[in-house]
Amino acid sequence: MQQHLAKLKADGAVITFVPTLGALHAGHLSLIKRAQKLGSIVVCSIFVNPTQFNDPKDLEMYPRPIADDIQKLKQVNCDVLFNPGVNEMYADNEKWHLDIGGLEGLLEGKFRPGHYQGVTQVVHKLFDIVKPDIALFGQKDYQQFLVISRMVSLLNLPVKLVMCPIEREADGLAMSSRNIHLSPADRKHALILSKTLNKIKHEFNPDNISQLKQQAEAVISNEPGVELAYFEIADGDTLHPADKNTKSFVALVAAKVGKTRLIDNVIIND
Ligand code: PAF
Repeated sequence: MQQHLAKLKADGAVITFVPTLGALHAGHLSLIKRAQKLGSIVVCSIFVNPTQFNDPKDLEMYPRPIADDIQKLKQVNCDVLFNPGVNEMYADNEKWHLDIGGLEGLLEGKFRPGHYQGVTQVVHKLFDIVKPDIALFGQKDYQQFLVISRMVSLLNLPVKLVMCPIEREADGLAMSSRNIHLSPADRKHALILSKTLNKIKHEFNPDNISQLKQQAEAVISNEPGVELAYFEIADGDTLHPADKNTKSFVALVAAKVGKTRLIDNVIIND
């Protein structure tokens, strides 16, 4: 991969990179299409990274439809697929720690201890292999984008990061590789997440944050089959709970719907 891309770079290619866990859906494909506009060679990686899963069952259950994924990448004319094995990416007992500050223990970090250490570990390795000029990530993993931005800034990595909007089904459900695990009933109940986020965006008033948050928590908790992990209206840069002096607001939610853990968010103002 390094030799192949080095040759293209020497010929003046601008490398854009879309790292994924596979089980590609329209959200991933929209990142690839955006990447095609920003550079000349698009690399997509598919690697179900074990170090970012804190639950072995979740890792085992993660969908891996590689033949379908390859087909989808061909349909959108993605230039290069990087699909390494675990033993190519990691030596035994490899250690990694990056100081990602407060983001480590907030929201997803609190519910999935060690998750962002695993994400930064693998993204750092992938950046080192692909050496992209531009890397694209989805807004659905909003906190992940902040964590990776912090890594890029801490380690002075020569890559520009681009965040792309969430792709949604017609009824509002955020696209996710995990949606295939939702039963038809779960699928209906899951809509409470995007509906509540949407309502918050439209009714947002910085003087009313705690009331809006409490209402959202109550509505989601009352939905059958939905177990709320967190709902937060946060500062878009730090993810600390927002107050009326906050400049940029984002609302974020995580919940278990049936057996499937889903996340979603909405940027209230940029
Ligand atoms: O967002 C994802 O799909 C993964 O966390 C990533 C960035 C590919 C790292 O494994």
